[in-house]
Amino acid sequence: MARFVLLCFFLLCLVGSIHCDDSGFDFKESLDSLGSPLLDSFAFDTSTGLPPYMGPQVGLKEQNKITTLPGQPDGINFDQYSGYVTIEADAERALFYYFVESPQNSSTKPLVLWLNGAPGCSAFGLGALMEVGPFRVGKDGKTLYQNEYAWTDVANVIFLETPAGAGFSYSNRTTNYKLSGDNVIVRDSYTFLVNWFERFSEYKTRDFFIVTEGYAGHYAPKLAQLILDNNKHTSQATINLRGIVMGNPYIDYETLIQGVVDYYWAHALISDEIYTALISNCNFSSPTAISKICMGLLEQSDIAAGNISSRNIYAAPCNSSSNPTIVPEFDPCSKSYVLSYLNVPEVQTALHANVKQWEFCKQLKDEALTVLPIIQGLMASGIPVWIYSGDVNAEDPVTSTRYAIKKLETSVKTPWYPWYVKEEVGGYVVEYQNLTFVTIRGAGHLAPSDQPVRSLVVFSSFLDGKLPPPYSSTSTGV
Ligand SMILES: *[C@@H]1O[C@H](CO)[C@@H](O)[C@H](O)[C@H]1NC(C)=O
Ligand SMILES: *[C@@H]1O[C@H](CO)[C@@H](O)[C@H](O)[C@H]1NC(C)=O
Ligand SMILES: *[C@@H]1O[C@H](CO)[C@@H](O)[C@H](O)[C@H]1NC(C)=O
Ligand SMILES: *[C@@H]1O[C@H](CO)[C@@H](O)[C@H](O)[C@H]1NC(C)=O
Ligand SMILES: *[C@@H]1O[C@H](CO)[C@@H](O)[C@H](O)[C@H]1NC(C)=O
Ligand SMILES: *[C@@H]1O[C@H](CO)[C@@H](O)[C@H](O)[C@H]1NC(C)=O
Repeated sequence: MARFVLLCFFLLCLVGSIHCDDSGFDFKESLDSLGSPLLDSFAFDTSTGLPPYMGPQVGLKEQNKITTLPGQPDGINFDQYSGYVTIEADAERALFYYFVESPQNSSTKPLVLWLNGAPGCSAFGLGALMEVGPFRVGKDGKTLYQNEYAWTDVANVIFLETPAGAGFSYSNRTTNYKLSGDNVIVRDSYTFLVNWFERFSEYKTRDFFIVTEGYAGHYAPKLAQLILDNNKHTSQATINLRGIVMGNPYIDYETLIQGVVDYYWAHALISDEIYTALISNCNFSSPTAISKICMGLLEQSDIAAGNISSRNIYAAPCNSSSNPTIVPEFDPCSKSYVLSYLNVPEVQTALHANVKQWEFCKQLKDEALTVLPIIQGLMASGIPVWIYSGDVNAEDPVTSTRYAIKKLETSVKTPWYPWYVKEEVGGYVVEYQNLTFVTIRGAGHLAPSDQPVRSLVVFSSFLDGKLPPPYSSTSTGV
């Protein structure tokens, strides 16, 4: 798979590449998409002030409660819900969510919205069933086993499938799908939230956080901004937003590509010759600035790096004889188990889903090249902003993130230090003015899959409003 070429010329395949893995890559189509004016659009119009669609919610919480998921382990001591929230009545468009309450003290624990990127990929299939949810899917595609390091132990978490067309989310008018992009996703997510808060009204005043992965680093700041703007309209419901986290984010095109190139060289994936030629021939400021020569060099880079996963450059490939049944191990074939499980009719019935074919992703049509100005605005508003990077992820690598942070022009508040889980370095952290940057050692793009213990320490620290723990002879970790 030509990762590099995808990265630069087919932005839709940028982060996660799960969809691209499945659908194959159409080079011609990707070039055509460059002509789209939407690629350059960065307009995010929150000024319309239109109240979002509000549907009736009475009784739906009870209907959405999951009795039991087929194949789930015994002794489950938490409540799970799933179902639809209508986003637009005319278009008959509805988004699907999966919500897990914390087993202990859920009424005092915060509420988190988790969104995946890729872009346009399901937070249920990826986030919940492969990363931070309470269950993972077994090799048989029919049974579930428990994730001992679930983030739902420390927070109540909503996994939202967005856009319509991804996962179980849908529109009865499929022409609607053509409109899907950053801005539609952000507005839909907002509409989802205000309706969801009516359905689960006990959460209305709860501390609320947004956590995203990869490309969804575009949504977190835009959604946060929309929430803050709409909170100012007294006619609209306020949402008690307390912070955002962007994991392995794609937030700025130019620094992303430059960071990938540098990461490839520094991790010995490409030769000195290719690297030198890339540096002297490429302009990464926008997709249209990439010349034919540069493109050729990017193709050579893909070949030079060979058949590795850019999501975790050290990961073992999917091997049908592997069979992990316990976290922290991660099965690189998990994606296919999830696909099987969510397409079992009994599972769909238990989940209250009415879409028969569950798919990981729905491709997006527009995207912004940078969200850094929005992040700067959030930082100035005093909302805690955290970014974490897995340091073996080459897709939106730690180098790219550091270059992007440099562009934010913030100053260091707490200098770089190693943080620990027990006796081991879990990663590194530097606190800037109004921005915290954490690395997770040995983690790839799906950081909680690769490093569940370390990732949970980062998430818990964020929720507690503390930096990840420095070395302490008495530290116990998780
Ligand atoms: C989509 O159509 C089905 C079948 O007519 C209907 O039951 C469902 O409510 C519609 N969805 C939305 C969100 O309106
Ligand atoms: C739940 O809350 C109670 C009262 O605040 C506290 O004593 C207890 O330790 C909490 N349990 C957990 C698992 O957090
Ligand atoms: C890179 O491309 C951008 C946009 O096409 C252009 O404005 C800029 O001057 C170019 N930079 C260099 C060093 O050529
Ligand atoms: C690359 O690895 C994947 C598994 O990760 C495998 O399916 C594919 O056949 C491999 N391709 C080549 C060219 O080796
Ligand atoms: C898969 O794993 C088995 C057992 O560990 C091993 O014998 C086999 O060679 C592996 N296959 C591939 C394609 O790596
Ligand atoms: C940090 O936030 C404070 C307000 O909470 C603001 O005054 C300051 O300008 C912000 N600094 C940066 C670098 O965003």
